[in-house]
Amino acid sequence: MERKQAQERVEELRRQIRHHDHLYYVEDSPEVSDEAYDRLFRELKRLEERFPDLLTPDSPTQRVGGEPLDSFSTIEHAAPMLSLDSDPSPEAVERFDERVRKALGPEAEVEYVLEPKLDGASVELVYEDGLLTSAATRGDGLRGEGIIANVKTIAAVPLRLREDERPVPPVLSLRGEVIMQQSAFEKLNERLMEEGREPFANPRNAAAGALRQLDPQITASRPLDIYLYDILAAEGFEADSQWEVLEALRDWGLRVNDLPRLVDSVEQILEYHSDLVARRDDIGYEIDGAVIKLNDLAARERMGSTSHHPRWAFAFKFEPRKEVTRVAKILASVGRTGVVTPVAMLRPVEIGGVTVSRATLHNREEVARKDIREGDTVRVERAGDVIPQVVERLPQPGRKRGPEFRMPESCPSCGTKLIERGPFTVCPNSFDCPAQLAGRLIHLGSRNALDIEGLGEETARLLVGEKLVEHLPDLFDLEPEQLVDLEGFAQKSAENLVAGIDKASHAELHRFLFGLGIPEVGATVAKSIARHFRSVEALRRASEEELQEVDGVGPKMAEQIVGFFQEPRNQKILDQLLEGRVEIIEPDEEIEAGSLEGLKFVLTGGLERFSRGEAKELLESLGAKVTSAVSAKTDYVVAGSDPGSKYDKARKLGVTTLDEQGLLGLLADKGVDV
Ligand code: IVH
Repeated sequence: MERKQAQERVEELRRQIRHHDHLYYVEDSPEVSDEAYDRLFRELKRLEERFPDLLTPDSPTQRVGGEPLDSFSTIEHAAPMLSLDSDPSPEAVERFDERVRKALGPEAEVEYVLEPKLDGASVELVYEDGLLTSAATRGDGLRGEGIIANVKTIAAVPLRLREDERPVPPVLSLRGEVIMQQSAFEKLNERLMEEGREPFANPRNAAAGALRQLDPQITASRPLDIYLYDILAAEGFEADSQWEVLEALRDWGLRVNDLPRLVDSVEQILEYHSDLVARRDDIGYEIDGAVIKLNDLAARERMGSTSHHPRWAFAFKFEPRKEVTRVAKILASVGRTGVVTPVAMLRPVEIGGVTVSRATLHNREEVARKDIREGDTVRVERAGDVIPQVVERLPQPGRKRGPEFRMPESCPSCGTKLIERGPFTVCPNSFDCPAQLAGRLIHLGSRNALDIEGLGEETARLLVGEKLVEHLPDLFDLEPEQLVDLEGFAQKSAENLVAGIDKASHAELHRFLFGLGIPEVGATVAKSIARHFRSVEALRRASEEELQEVDGVGPKMAEQIVGFFQEPRNQKILDQLLEGRVEIIEPDEEIEAGSLEGLKFVLTGGLERFSRGEAKELLESLGAKVTSAVSAKTDYVVAGSDPGSKYDKARKLGVTTLDEQGLLGLLADKGVDV
């Protein structure tokens, strides 16, 4: 291909990719399949490799790149990034409204834009001639840290603004909030914990942490999202109202939240606030209040700002998902990897509709830093579905406190002397410690592993405590008669558990691998490993080099895997499991078996060939699970006509979507003709 031809093609590809990026990440309504998109992207990459001089910084291929930085530069904001005056009480909102009306006079027609208060990290983005040229954290409000390489990895941030709806001014400095969607946050924490690292306490910390990585590759591995809501400064653009600002931002292809509303009374503000409270757990990202903004920008000028916050805006916060309670006791709890975690047993309190009676204290350094002791009064926080955390101790002057918490010297479960590994305290008795065995049982039975129905935490501990399971393989030898007399069991439940174990003993390779609890190996990488090696035997023989050929396996993980299979006690356990206790469904057979075993489907919108009920029955008869809510664990969302929000959610979570034709194709692949 000639250079000139290549240039034309490169430009066309970029135009198409930007268009699809916008539909996918900003509008949540894609037009093409992931495969079609990938083809465009690959073609562009190939051409840019062949003609390196055609590469431009705003090319969609340039989101992740560059070397890690030594430090961040300092960037002065185009205008101060103020914070908001805030309060959770309706009276404070009334007072705010009165102040506004008084300042603007009795004649003024007061309108407010209401927006959700996004719980993330505030950033400034600068576009010059439509090109993203700078990005900064809020910092002290006047100066922040330059984080453009990290911001470029956020797929929802356009590297170049769109000009088809509205001209792009020469200079635009914008303010928005970088957030992490709840599903991405949960996945990230799962991964961190699998790697033996500390999880983040909430999505805000995770988002802020991802933005402040010196290595943009790390930021890229932590999916972030953004909503823009303000123009800090602009050359060549003027708006009359906040509503118009939001519209302009949208026209330029930026991601703008879809919950804002225009109102003119305190009553409507209160209504909006309670509506947000009610929807808080369903919108997929954390919000912590409603922001009230005067719509008229000229009126804003007249009201002005204090040095900290504008007088024309107010954050009507939610009541915090935090409560105060007392630490009754601090226990040391041993997990499946032997790590000992201090756990605060609390006087039960209700936080946001859930009763909380225990909260993690993470590790000994954390307990010491927060100086938490038995008997202390503490603030406990619950963010979404995350394990409750002890945030801080409340000072109680005059009260005599108990002794400092000390980690036990020996394992509370097996008595082995504990050792220290970095901030962690660990029981080294991996194979014979009952608490670790119970932890491994719970993990083996968990959803992404063998998914054993009836094997919850309590049952696992009971089985180990009663010595019915002394090694992992014993689980598969259980008979109902051994269980009936146990606390909480009767004939029926004993039979059910054994049936659940039996059913789970035909396991897909990747589930089995994940269930083994090999250090560092999470559910996702277990799938890649299973696809690559196709049998336990091949994997057992694999060298570190061979393992690293698998997508997602680095040198550290490869070393752990080889080490795991070399350990004689692991070998024995594995042999016992595979000697008639667990039957592995290897990936090849999975496809030939013509089943949809283990796949999770969500159906939405109208289908033509069959009713949704019929489709559900058909899918279930092939072993699929059909559920109503889309989550990151969903494998396919089948979208018929007018699919609605489930479809949007699927795209946001990266779940594969199928139209009716796609579903028929999938069924045909499995040998089912409809
Ligand atoms: S407006 C001068 N709108 O809340 C106007 N802020 O202190 C300043 N925030 O740090 C901000 N959602 O990062 C505005 N829809 C929203 C917001 C929002 C979240 C953050 C902002 C600021 C904090 C308030």
